Amino acid sequence: MTDAPRPAAELAVVIVAAGSGTRLGYGMPKALVPLGGAPLLLHALRGVAGSGVASQICVAVPAGDAELGGLCRTFAEEYGADAPAITVVEGGETRADSVRAALAALAPGTAQVLVHDAARPLAPADVFHRVADALTRGAHAVIPAVPVVDTIKSTAPTEGESAGIAAEVVTGTAVREQLRAVQTPQGFDAATLLRAHEVAAGWPDEQAAGITDDAMLVESLGIPVYVVPGDLRSLKITTPTDHVLAEALLSVEGAA
Ligand code: CTP
Ligand code: MG
Repeated sequence: MTDAPRPAAELAVVIVAAGSGTRLGYGMPKALVPLGGAPLLLHALRGVAGSGVASQICVAVPAGDAELGGLCRTFAEEYGADAPAITVVEGGETRADSVRAALAALAPGTAQVLVHDAARPLAPADVFHRVADALTRGAHAVIPAVPVVDTIKSTAPTEGESAGIAAEVVTGTAVREQLRAVQTPQGFDAATLLRAHEVAAGWPDEQAAGITDDAMLVESLGIPVYVVPGDLRSLKITTPTDHVLAEALLSVEGAA
């Protein structure tokens, strides 16, 4: 166990919780979906606040939502005087839009920002500490990641006669040792992340549609992105299978 660090006076954690959860298929915003009886967002809030790294938390919730905002307020009241300041903003159409909305609401003087998915409710405190520590040591951008276990290949649609065999054909095999599966929280100095999002706000729709994390925006500016160990418990709940896995992990952790 790492001792919980004191929060940096100006470290904000953005929790993006404005997605619809289409692939999970619960018919409600994913952040409201229960895990061990509590909504995913509540787990994420407990994880962030419990890590002790944040002086401020900003949560992006779906437009028109009242429930998730209310959950944040109740959490702040129940957490008591030690709770970081919690603000709630309306998210946008894409994840990047939601991050941008949250960045616009951060307290003046915010020096560092961690961006975390509400869909990763079980991210351990140690991961938050590793990311925050790397920022303290001078990194402008840092991401937690784990080795990839599957062999990853690129493919293309088949054409002509070969289309009768299968829909896709392999075009290459990546070198697995060099690949990492990237998680959140991803950490940045605030100025770098703001600049990266400002630049990406001007990208054409097709390019913007390919934004899957914040680090790739910083990479596009030519700024080094450092990698620290992630944790398999930080899995992202995307499909019903992930939800079953997270329930199992939670029950094992709960029993420990
Ligand atoms: N997210 C967000 N705003 C969006 C889209 C996504 O804040 N417009 C957040 C989600 O709430 C989630 C994280 O980004 O915490 C990762 O997104 P993803 O796993 O894709 O969640 P959803 O977009 O909700 O799921 P789906 O794509 O299946 O609809
Ligand atoms: Mg999504």
